[in-house]
Amino acid sequence: MTIMFPIERPRRLRRTENLRRLVQETRLSSDALIYPVFVRPGSAVQSPISAMPGIFQWSPDLLVKHLTSVYEGGVRVFLLFGIPESKDSRGSGAYDPNGIVQETLRLLKEKLPEAVLIADLCLCEYTDHGHCGIIASNGVVDNDGTLDLLAQAAVEQARAGADVVAPSDMMDGRVSAIRRALDQAGFHHIPIMSYAAKYASGFYGPFREAAENTPQFGDRRTYQMDPANRREALREVRLDLQEGADMIIAKPALPYLDVLADIRAEVSVPIAAYQVSGEFAMIEAAAQNGWIERERVIMESLTAIRRAGADMIITYWAPEVSRWLKA
Ligand code: PBG
Repeated sequence: MTIMFPIERPRRLRRTENLRRLVQETRLSSDALIYPVFVRPGSAVQSPISAMPGIFQWSPDLLVKHLTSVYEGGVRVFLLFGIPESKDSRGSGAYDPNGIVQETLRLLKEKLPEAVLIADLCLCEYTDHGHCGIIASNGVVDNDGTLDLLAQAAVEQARAGADVVAPSDMMDGRVSAIRRALDQAGFHHIPIMSYAAKYASGFYGPFREAAENTPQFGDRRTYQMDPANRREALREVRLDLQEGADMIIAKPALPYLDVLADIRAEVSVPIAAYQVSGEFAMIEAAAQNGWIERERVIMESLTAIRRAGADMIITYWAPEVSRWLKA
């Protein structure tokens, strides 16, 4: 009997650092990182978020300073969330021409004209009840009644300087309502990046503190997707594309890599994955305890999200990762 030596030896390509780099299938680049930020009215405000170490709510003046240095560090795309001075049942701060996000967009456009400004488009930060749409008399989130308000908000964001609008409300038909309104207002050149597959996830926990948008009754399960559903994500994505979405977002990221891979196989438009607040908080907490290697795990998580099919990643670590990628 002859001893069979392996003919195929995958280890040959792992022998040195530069060989491994050469054959790497997935690469990270700061060009594909999107940095989410929280802005609130006032001046000289930099208010920490306890469950998100290193992340703050900023007033517009300090946000401009912060993003100027982040931009210089290599991250050029920002996703804006606003926390208004006051909230009401119809979320009017979202479509007020002088709302906090609109005001900040104007300021950022002036100070950082080359940056790509994405406006998150939802009512939940602006409604006193914390839901992503208005509430009908029977207590249900009113889908069709919300569409017009989202469309108005999109137009105001575009008017204020948003380069992209990103509806995250999960109302049915919102992409076509927004597209129509943008086109009518002369903003046919502004793309829609829709949160197409957005799950009703416990991983948004820390964000609720950051954006102050906790629902005051019930939860988001009548409009966000059931975590148990995989095929349904493709249905949501197809609908958003039919309605005119230019790019799509899947969210959360790491616990939903199967969904990301399915979407990648199905569509040709650019896909972003949102590494959400709870994913961020888990890694930060474990690292603080010395249970995992922080930088290594952050980079591994981002690589896994890219490998599964995301072209772009929305991540709170964008500024730091960009510095690491340069080093
Ligand atoms: C809602 C919105 C949420 C997030 C982004 N947009 C929260 C929610 O749906 O309750 C979560 C992002 C994160 O957790 O980092 N407009």
